Amino acid sequence: MKLENDPLAAFWMPFTANRAFKTTPRQLASAKDMHYTSDDGRQILDGTAGLWAVNAGHCRAPIVEAIQKCAAELDYAPPFQLGHPLAFELASRLATIMPEGLDRIFFTNSGSESVDTALKIALAYQRAIGQGTRTRLIGRERGYNGVGFGGISVGGIVNNRRQFGTLLTGVDHLPHTHNLEHNAFTMGRPEWGAHLADNLEAIVALHGAETIAAVIVEPMAGSTGVLVPPIGYLEKLREITRKHGIVLIFDEVITAFGRVGGTTASETLGVTPDIITMAKGLTNAAVPMGAVAVSRHIHDGVVEGGPDGIELFHGYTYSGHPLAAAAALATLDLYKSEGIFEHASSLHGYWQDAVHSLKGKRHIIDIRNMGIVAAIELAPHAGGVGKRGMQLFHKCFDNGLLVRATGDIIALSPPLILEKAHIDEIVGRIGELIETVD
Ligand SMILES: Cc1ncc(COP(=O)(O)O)c(C=O)c1O
Repeated sequence: MKLENDPLAAFWMPFTANRAFKTTPRQLASAKDMHYTSDDGRQILDGTAGLWAVNAGHCRAPIVEAIQKCAAELDYAPPFQLGHPLAFELASRLATIMPEGLDRIFFTNSGSESVDTALKIALAYQRAIGQGTRTRLIGRERGYNGVGFGGISVGGIVNNRRQFGTLLTGVDHLPHTHNLEHNAFTMGRPEWGAHLADNLEAIVALHGAETIAAVIVEPMAGSTGVLVPPIGYLEKLREITRKHGIVLIFDEVITAFGRVGGTTASETLGVTPDIITMAKGLTNAAVPMGAVAVSRHIHDGVVEGGPDGIELFHGYTYSGHPLAAAAALATLDLYKSEGIFEHASSLHGYWQDAVHSLKGKRHIIDIRNMGIVAAIELAPHAGGVGKRGMQLFHKCFDNGLLVRATGDIIALSPPLILEKAHIDEIVGRIGELIETVD
């Protein structure tokens, strides 16, 4: 085989403009606590916890040691018809910190797998209880539920579907809750928008409740630009789904593990779904892992209700992988022993005031926040949507700050071990650099 000279040619990068990246590559070489070090030796303040994931900060010693120890003791154990103690221990631990009643845990390796698993469990449950006509899945516009065929179908991002068609056809979507006219520059949760949940009644009227298995929403949509749930909105969804026998799934791949306050957004907001999907902060992103917390009645409906034998024909070679389980246990210990969620919560007010202090700066048409998350929305450049966001992302990176650009929205979600000085630095730097963007 002919060897190419370009060392960057072979890696087909995910969700990346490959040609542009390879012309001007930006690479990370190492990380510690709140910072990355770039391959040219610069310190980069991590304003995004990697990808909404490294909540306890980078390369934390207890997590590193747990992974090292496990790798030398039990590198792998097949999860089908066999077990290993760490996976059971982790499931029990998660069961105790999930909202009341969601105490059965299925392991996956990513957020996308968690979503597809949750959708399958909802479908299997409806069948198991004699509701086999309930096959329709309802997602939401601007939802990002990962990139499996299930996730892109219920997700509300046309770019994620356009190249692939949609294998899963029985879906419909709620409207999203983002509205600049009513809610621009709201601090925290907007008061306008709870009524948008009533669209679920319209969808039920259109299709018939007997055809609908589940509704999936992110309690706070992250990837499409931090869409904060209006006050009362999730409560309404809970009420309507309960009334019609529809399984309610919260996709908490971003919101779980302290990002918006408590262990889950469900706990923080006081609304309990039937299923919660997780990933990212579960292992502090040190080893890939996802999980699905399922309410006892759904679990029992599938597991206790069927004939002898395998109850759910689903699972992954790496479900509950020992290294991931070891990393997750060490991560949960760290969250608790250092009071990381409480520390982050004590900064919510400071964070909110700091990010909103950018109001009035050039190009900024909205600022939104929840927990230790914020979005700064920029007016699009006349030359195209996303150009201005990408320009600011590059300028930030080149000036020692990692932010995330999703279109023209700059999303911020630093590690939860941040201090006020980090907040000042993030906001100060964006404030300066936004003035230099076309
Ligand atoms: C809400 C939500 N669900 C699912 C996913 C997919 O997770 P992964 O990239 O680990 O497959 C993401 C990723 O950002 C997410 O934000």
